[in-house]
Amino acid sequence: MNKKAIITSALPYANGEIHLGHVASTYLPADVTTRFLKLNGVEAYYVCASDDFGTPILIQSEKEGKTPAEYVAHWNKRDYEDFSAFNIEFDYFYKTSSSENIAFVQDVFKKLNDSGHIYEKEIIQFYCNNDKKFLPDRYVKGICPYCKAEDQYSDLCEICGRVPEEITDPKCSLCGQPPTKEKTTHYFFKLKNFSESLSKWLDENQNLQKDVKKYVQNWIKSGLIDWDITRDIPWGVPVPLDGAEGKVFYGWFDNHLAYISTAIKFLNDKGINGKYFWNSADIYHFIGKDIVYHHYLFLPAMRLGINSEYELPDYIPTRGHLTLQSKKISKSRNWYIGLKQFLEYYPADYLRFYLVSINPYSQDDLNFDWDDFTTRINSELIGNLGNFVNRALGFTKKAFDGKVPEPDSFDDKDLEAEQKIKNLAYDVSSLMEQNHLDRALKKIMEFSSFFNQYFQHKEPWKKGPGTANCVYLSVNAARSIAIALFSFLPESSQKIWNQLGMGGEISNSSWNDISVLGISSNHILGDASPIFTKVEESDIEKHKSQLGPSE
Ligand code: MF3
Ligand code: ZN
Repeated sequence: MNKKAIITSALPYANGEIHLGHVASTYLPADVTTRFLKLNGVEAYYVCASDDFGTPILIQSEKEGKTPAEYVAHWNKRDYEDFSAFNIEFDYFYKTSSSENIAFVQDVFKKLNDSGHIYEKEIIQFYCNNDKKFLPDRYVKGICPYCKAEDQYSDLCEICGRVPEEITDPKCSLCGQPPTKEKTTHYFFKLKNFSESLSKWLDENQNLQKDVKKYVQNWIKSGLIDWDITRDIPWGVPVPLDGAEGKVFYGWFDNHLAYISTAIKFLNDKGINGKYFWNSADIYHFIGKDIVYHHYLFLPAMRLGINSEYELPDYIPTRGHLTLQSKKISKSRNWYIGLKQFLEYYPADYLRFYLVSINPYSQDDLNFDWDDFTTRINSELIGNLGNFVNRALGFTKKAFDGKVPEPDSFDDKDLEAEQKIKNLAYDVSSLMEQNHLDRALKKIMEFSSFFNQYFQHKEPWKKGPGTANCVYLSVNAARSIAIALFSFLPESSQKIWNQLGMGGEISNSSWNDISVLGISSNHILGDASPIFTKVEESDIEKHKSQLGPSE
């Protein structure tokens, strides 16, 4: 395992609240992975930033009568608060509109320009005579020329995932009028220059998901299109050239560069050579499948275009979209659950448990279902794991006054249990390293379930000869669970840790401690109480009825 890592997750647009769909596919998997790496002694940093530029933000700030800067400052703060409440622990959360990022983007542009990867071209751009402005991206809606989906924005078809060269049957998204066409000069990035080098990079990088790679390779085969990287709007990173006054970069030109500029700023401020660190670390970019095009083509091409001065990603874990009660999430139809709202109902760990459990390492969509949520929390998290921990600790309290007894020689069942503890660190980490977070969590649940049966089988309440062994091994298993669970459920694992009387922060443990019998006889446990409380079905009915159009 590389001892250094930088982890990022798709930068959230500073344009509205974080909801369950956002955290499921990117922020949570990235957070779990970062915590895991840190327990393994990796110097890992999870950096993120708000994505501040772009036409949707400009449009929305105009609607709300705010300057775009005021508008994004509001969402930057709010998003960070919501993430923190969910225990998404960024080492640093910054913004794409930072002075560091602006300078960095301009510098990258100049280098690309000097190397011949940029050209200027007069283009015909949609212009709304009614609104008196050029209409890039979200300012225009129409039909996707590839898959014929209707009502798509001109910068991305949400149905087929492609970026249309020119949208069919365009309409101004502000007033609905068909726009006229006017001439303007834009800058283009020669994506075509990179067909071969991108293809080579994709072939050689064994850590990228195979299925994603395959269709990106097909896009390359069918021919890449040069990429229009500037806009005639007053909000964005200014194009640093004479004669380009009033032009800014397209949001997708600058936003992913903030992965680098944010990491460098953070590391340099810490007294670490940021660039050197970046280039010797494993680079992870966690994304949802809607932005594959940008992360597997634009982003690596731009890094290749500056001679890989900053290393390309090693991992781009790409996951599917979350649906809600089997329907597409939609803010306008009130079919969504805000993260903040959810955390008013249930602890962060319930959601973390549920979302990891249902989220495979693949592009398949996943579904949030209130009934499934209830079952998984009540019967798996509480019925299995919570129950085991509480039983083991509660019994030790009651029968041994909280003092862990001295074990005798182990019988076969004890030896099997001991072996389970010794294997757990490896069993879970091998799955985590392959990004199978759901299966890793399942392993921990199986471990817990084994110990429930073990405890049941040993019947320590009868105070027979095997009692001391059973208690000794069970409290040690609870300790192993606590550490293994930390990446997934940081608050609950700390609670278990405290109840075990371990003292201090569980985050200071190391991964291999999972497989050590770290609690010796005579150790005194802390106070035991149930870690979780049941989800009530009557509450669930209320939550369900809050979804959908309000009459
Ligand atoms: N804000 C973009 C989105 O939500 C993601 C930007 S990721 C970045 O789709 F790398 F490009 F910054
Ligand atoms: Zn218009």
